[in-house]
Amino acid sequence: MKLRIDGGRLLDLTDGSLTPASVLVDAVRGVVVAIGTDLPEADLVISLRGEVLLPGFIDVHVHLRDPGFEAKETLATGTRAAAAGGYTQVACMPNTKPPLDTPERVRDVQLRAQGLAARVHPVACITQGQAGEALTDFEALRAAGAIALSDDGRGVQHSGLMREALARAARAGLPVAIHAEDEALSGGGALDPAAARRLGVSASAPEAETAMIARDLVLAEATGAHLHVCHVSTATAVSLIRWAKARGIRVTAEVTPHHLLLDEGVIDRPDAVFKVNPPLRTAQDREACLAGFLDGTLDLVATDHAPHTAEEKARGLSEAPFGMVGLETAFPLLYTHLVETGRMRLEQLVRRMSTDPARHFGLGGGVLRPGGRADITAVDLEHTRRVDPATFHSKGRNTPFAGWPLRGWPVLTICEGRVTHTAAYEMTQGEARR
Ligand code: DOR
Repeated sequence: MKLRIDGGRLLDLTDGSLTPASVLVDAVRGVVVAIGTDLPEADLVISLRGEVLLPGFIDVHVHLRDPGFEAKETLATGTRAAAAGGYTQVACMPNTKPPLDTPERVRDVQLRAQGLAARVHPVACITQGQAGEALTDFEALRAAGAIALSDDGRGVQHSGLMREALARAARAGLPVAIHAEDEALSGGGALDPAAARRLGVSASAPEAETAMIARDLVLAEATGAHLHVCHVSTATAVSLIRWAKARGIRVTAEVTPHHLLLDEGVIDRPDAVFKVNPPLRTAQDREACLAGFLDGTLDLVATDHAPHTAEEKARGLSEAPFGMVGLETAFPLLYTHLVETGRMRLEQLVRRMSTDPARHFGLGGGVLRPGGRADITAVDLEHTRRVDPATFHSKGRNTPFAGWPLRGWPVLTICEGRVTHTAAYEMTQGEARR
């Protein structure tokens, strides 16, 4: 079974040039057979209209909520949301119920995710039950398929335990993805201090994040572990990571679209749609995150896709859970606000959303080339559409970007040769028309 995609333009990730090209895919083996013009006949042809062909995006930080919180999201709905956002691979965080802290639970997610709309890589817990007291069995979790370790949603509070975790992770060859939050400093507060004062709720101080990042960078140096810093949000954190990289510490870092594009100044009402952890910080922090992203201090875009039910988010700023959905809007947001505004080049953004996550986490994909995996995303750079949460495939509608006019919407996603998302395309044997 062969699939041919005609009418697209191929982005060269080294120089940013766009070349009209077709792509021939072996849908059974899930590989790209050829890229070029005058390709052979295929069983199915999809005709694009000048959309840009990219390697499928990879998000190393999503919450699929399954098992245990299926009212928020399931493996099926979360991977459909991923595909709609142009993603072909996602790493799911282990703060499920039960948490992913045993090899059996890691394998269960992998098995149930097979054949869904994106490849799912489980991240396993650092500590049993994410309780911060006893380490999990890293070797066994790795053998079961975990690609990283994290207690995401909580930081590991005990420094001695964290040092032991990093030493063992280095031996097991697994990155440790940290949710940096010293709870003695954050106090579980809802918003960054200025916004918290304005809206009369408890504050989460930025030093709660930066102090733990500083600690863990020092511990990564002492142990040789690969430290991955999740959702960086402060200017000080960016400086610390820049310092650590210059020193040769093995650290990678991610930034979310919301921390790049929003700051606490947007919070003009007591609406929990703005409540996320770490919080939206100051304009100066946002600019520093952007500068860090542009100069490569922050390596990757990750969404921290965190779906919650409407009822949960209606509980008000103090009581509602932290989190925003992100999978279905990440690329259009960053394309429109960073590439179209001239702050970053398209190929640079695509590398940060595809090639680099694949490389840093040892995943396949991340490049579009003959012989490579058929993980492909076609994006429409011409048409503007507003973010409409009612159309999301995710169960979560909790986005602060509703109504934003954006370009760069994914129109076609192919994961290992399977069509996982089409927007307004009608496919027929041998032909497809919009
Ligand atoms: O906003 C957040 N939501 N931050 C986290 O660290 C956890 C996540 C969740 O699980 O809802």
